[in-house]
Amino acid sequence: MDNWTTSHDRVLAQRYAEGWMFLIEAARDMRTTGAIAPSGTALARALTEPVRARAGRPLDILEAGAGTGAVTRVLIPRLPRGSHLDVVEANPRFADRLRHLAAAHADADAAVAERVRVHTARVEELDTNRRYDVIVSGLPFANFAPGDIEAIMDRYLELLRPGGVLTYFAYLGTRRARTLLASRARVRRHRAAEEVLAAYRRRYAGGCRTVWANLPPAEVWRLQRPAATPTPAPTPPRPQPAAIGAADR
Ligand SMILES: C[S@@+](CC[C@H](N)C(=O)[O-])C[C@H]1O[C@@H](n2cnc3c(N)ncnc32)[C@H](O)[C@@H]1O
Repeated sequence: MDNWTTSHDRVLAQRYAEGWMFLIEAARDMRTTGAIAPSGTALARALTEPVRARAGRPLDILEAGAGTGAVTRVLIPRLPRGSHLDVVEANPRFADRLRHLAAAHADADAAVAERVRVHTARVEELDTNRRYDVIVSGLPFANFAPGDIEAIMDRYLELLRPGGVLTYFAYLGTRRARTLLASRARVRRHRAAEEVLAAYRRRYAGGCRTVWANLPPAEVWRLQRPAATPTPAPTPPRPQPAAIGAADR
């Protein structure tokens, strides 16, 4: 057996193991895991497009909700020199897996160890002073309450540098499936959550594309924090009404 065959077999075995791990975590907690399988390569590439668009410049990147690392695996080899990637994952078992993934890349390229950090945390509670050029969110917003979505989106916008870009995805067809299968209360909550996201998109939208080559197909949204506006000039003091002098009386 040649080297290519053995490394190809190893990759297949690893993907198979990750598929099972994802399924087990989804069975444990579907609300937080949000899917039964990791994203495919086409979706991972669409989510990371703003990183390729900024190729060559050092970047600060945040990946939230990385799961077994379908997107992380696309990001790590594309980190320009001088870049930094924070990977934030709420599920500690996924976070352990992501640390192994980063360590495996660091074995091949020592610079990766300096550039990549995995945090076991909920992204809205991430304690950092860093600001990011690109945020890639894998969070299952469709499962979240409207207030939770607002807290996370506001935190993302706070963490983005002016001009920075956020990408996130939503599976196609979830609304119809929920209308048929879920309780009325869940349908209402899902609609309210969609309205919250739509309001952010109206304010910050930079575009959307559909990735059909994923199971299920998904829409990838791209939001941009406006570039810094010049600090407004201080408002001049308002003229005071003329003092009423003796001659006016
Ligand atoms: C739909 S999966 C996406 C996984 C991966 N990005 C992919 O595309 O295959 C969502 C992931 O978000 C994680 N997650 C959910 N809520 C989170 C939160 N508040 N902060 C960080 N990670 C979270 C889940 O544990 C899960 O790994």
